[in-house]
Amino acid sequence: TGGLITLDRGFKNTGSCESAITFLNGEEGILRYRGYSIEDLAENASFLEVAYLLIFGELPSESELNKFYDDIKAESNVDEEMHKILDGFPKSAHPMGVVSSLTNALIAFNPSSVNVESKEDMYNAIIKLLAKFPVLCAWALRKRTGQPLDYGDDSLGYVENVLKMMFKKANQNYEVDPVIASALNKLLILHADHEQNCSTSTVRVVGSSHAGLFASISAGISALWGPLHGGANQAVIEMLEGIKEDGGDTKKYMQKAKDKEDPFRLMGFGHRVYKNFDPRARIIKKSADDVLGNLGVEDPILDIAKGLEKEALEDDYFVKRKLYPNVDFYSGIIYRALGIPTEMFTVMFALGRLPGWIAQWREMRLGKEPIGRPRQVYTGEKLRSYKPMDQR
Ligand code: SDX
Repeated sequence: TGGLITLDRGFKNTGSCESAITFLNGEEGILRYRGYSIEDLAENASFLEVAYLLIFGELPSESELNKFYDDIKAESNVDEEMHKILDGFPKSAHPMGVVSSLTNALIAFNPSSVNVESKEDMYNAIIKLLAKFPVLCAWALRKRTGQPLDYGDDSLGYVENVLKMMFKKANQNYEVDPVIASALNKLLILHADHEQNCSTSTVRVVGSSHAGLFASISAGISALWGPLHGGANQAVIEMLEGIKEDGGDTKKYMQKAKDKEDPFRLMGFGHRVYKNFDPRARIIKKSADDVLGNLGVEDPILDIAKGLEKEALEDDYFVKRKLYPNVDFYSGIIYRALGIPTEMFTVMFALGRLPGWIAQWREMRLGKEPIGRPRQVYTGEKLRSYKPMDQR
């Protein structure tokens, strides 16, 4: 330590705030949103109900939920001028960069969302973001696939509408497949919040400067993009496809993951908090079997994933380090079966995490949290004098 400062790299043992939103127990693999277990919510709730629960603290009554969704539908238009920003991106732009930029760009078209002090102003900004963010996510996909932009259909539910905006072909009707809608609903619920992870901490720190909700969420999207965090769901599929191309030799990749000289890590394994099975991974693994079965999809990389998991659970290196599959290990296999391209997986994670980020931002602002400003242990030069150029 440096005097009064205790160095805690990666904040491994630092509590940054008090929060009543999500409870994690890493040793026992427990995850609850506002006291409800994710197993209970994933089985019984709609994603919009869970969004309301996370943000306002209680499951909504029917009338509360209807008003919530009516308010969202009323705000689901996105200013046509936003197209010009989307058009500026090359088709090859990664959807996470597109979505974080467009989320920030929304500020210019919704200036009232910035200086929010009252609960009512916060509610209005929250509704705007819950309404417009799915449109931006769908636009990012349609940009890549060359499809005309779609604004959705208010007669559909929130999750069903996401699917329509993403997949409706310009010249065809689009019928939502209930198996796909149910699978996406469950995945979004399982991603909805996770206490003070990297991207949520980013949202809280950026929000603590009163930069506004949209700017805070845009920063959170950027943090989530990293392959050590939400970007892992894309990296897992790329890894599994690489193993398949390489003849499916999972033992070779287990070795690589243990070789300190090799930067390769088994993506989708390990977690800062869960030192037991990530409860979300357990549910998603079962859902992968169900969804692929219901859709009649055979995906060889599911077998590779299961083989890798089996080997890791029996491997001393992984067992000693308590490395288990995390939320990102199986989720990409379901997204793939739903027809979602790999580059969009982390955007789907962001879509699920949005209500959690919003809930944490709102709790931080209502709690009048001070601006986030940690200290450091200085290891640089001692005082020295300016050196004229001819002496350098
Ligand atoms: C998410 O925090 C959250 O809650 C995040 C999240 C959420 O919902 O918001 O749960 C979502 O981000 C899940 C994690 C997705 N990331 C990955 O799957 C990437 C692969 N995993 C790792 O990079 C790592 O496990 C982290 C980033 C998840 C956790 O990193 P930590 O806690 O800083 O652990 P560490 O890097 O210090 O690793 C401890 C040891 C090291 O070995 P030693 O130095 O002790 O010898 O375990 C090893 C690491 O080398 N290790 C791995 C490994 N993960 C850790 N070795 C091989 N493969 C891995 N995946």
